[in-house]
Amino acid sequence: MDRRALITLVSCCLAFVSTTTLRDLSRPDTETVDFLQSLQDEVEQEFDREIQFDQDESFPVTDPVDPLTALNANYSDLLFEGDIRLSHEAILSLQGDHRSRRQAVRAPNLLWRDGVPYTLGEGLSATKRKVIREAIAFWNRETCVNFRARGTEDHYLYFVGHDQGCWSTVGRDKKQTQQWISIGDGCQLFGIAAHEIGHALGVMHQQSRPDRDDFVSIMWSRIKRKVEGNFAKARTTNTYDLPYDYGSVMHYGPTSFANNPKTHTISAKDANYLLTMGNREGPSFLDVALVNKLYSCQDRCPDIGCENGGYPDSRNCGVCKCAPVFTGTYCELPWFGPSSCGGSETVTEEWQTFDRKVVKDQHCIFHFEAPEGSKVEFDLEKVDGLCNYGCYEDRVEFRVDRDRLSTGYRFCCPVNPSRRFTADSSSAPVILKSTKNQTSVLFRYRAV
Ligand SMILES: *[C@@H]1O[C@H](CO)[C@@H](O)[C@H](O)[C@H]1NC(C)=O
Ligand SMILES: *[C@@H]1O[C@H](CO)[C@@H](O)[C@H](O)[C@H]1NC(C)=O
Ligand SMILES: [Zn+2]
Repeated sequence: MDRRALITLVSCCLAFVSTTTLRDLSRPDTETVDFLQSLQDEVEQEFDREIQFDQDESFPVTDPVDPLTALNANYSDLLFEGDIRLSHEAILSLQGDHRSRRQAVRAPNLLWRDGVPYTLGEGLSATKRKVIREAIAFWNRETCVNFRARGTEDHYLYFVGHDQGCWSTVGRDKKQTQQWISIGDGCQLFGIAAHEIGHALGVMHQQSRPDRDDFVSIMWSRIKRKVEGNFAKARTTNTYDLPYDYGSVMHYGPTSFANNPKTHTISAKDANYLLTMGNREGPSFLDVALVNKLYSCQDRCPDIGCENGGYPDSRNCGVCKCAPVFTGTYCELPWFGPSSCGGSETVTEEWQTFDRKVVKDQHCIFHFEAPEGSKVEFDLEKVDGLCNYGCYEDRVEFRVDRDRLSTGYRFCCPVNPSRRFTADSSSAPVILKSTKNQTSVLFRYRAV
């Protein structure tokens, strides 16, 4: 039989498979049901429904529902934390050690030891194929994980497009040889595909990190009944000492699992991070760093003295991977953006005004430099852009954290009243980016 005939034959039979849905695949066993119930009980005991919270500020967000939650609505009974297909293996791993759950599943048997073979299933539209290929290429380029088209391997990732929703298993699950990642209708966004692949590589959600209570408040009284288990917290630390990142592509949006989609179930302890949560543009610097740690990629390179939080690129050990405000072989230089439209701004004790607009596809980084020993203070007066959680299309971002590794305060919705905040140090990068329409910003700044 020639190759083409073989391909036709295979296509016919795969097409046959593609009416199978998650509901057919999932026959939750007693163990799974017990696990989810125990999480639910644990969480119900942990909080007091009577607690009253202050109303959060609300924004004219175009689409308040986190796309992942909305797209997976019909499978909320089958998926854990919104989009995770829990496998038997994962349950064993998660239940062990006092039901410890982790942001990254460390159990070595859940990692892909010899690259990740994958197949794009029948019925994936051209757009979905393109997005999946881009997401795979991203993780290949940014980490030492090797994705490759499946040859004869028994165990592989199988991207399907015919089912509802966007979901994946966490890590490599020995029990599924053809391990599904669903990119259903509406899921064909680079950020969503990259998120689901992140799960398949072994990454859990950011806000289930064991230290999350230092960064976010869960508004228990606003969560739908019986889904509170999705907010259970990891017990065992495995964050590899990476900072918490509100802008992680693995972070829930602020309205996830809300009984009223306009209210927040997650609020940031530092309210300026509220709109940073829900990023669906793509993995952050720290998302990439986590996968590189999980797969011990940095062990492949000698220490070459990367600066500013960078680390050697396992694909090219002579060059450092930098947080997205630095550049240079060793991340020793400020980065002004891909088209160098940013620059350095000298900050003095006098208030100065910054008034800029960027249009679609512009990405400019400005480095505000105050005298050594002082700090940069901002007074943000006006922002205009497409207003959505995560500000992942149009935004201004203030990296005020000392290390400048985690995603900063993001704004894309009108700010009213104006707000004032101070960076941790004498240097603060501000990123202006538009991928959809345009962003304009008006603020004052000075050294304090
Ligand atoms: C949920 O299922 C119904 C009925 O099959 C369908 O009309 C609807 O589009 C589905 N919702 C999503 C978000 O896929
Ligand atoms: C794009 O920006 C312009 C100028 O601010 C605004 O008038 C328009 O409504 C924006 N488009 C969308 C879809 O928000
Ligand atoms: Zn997820």
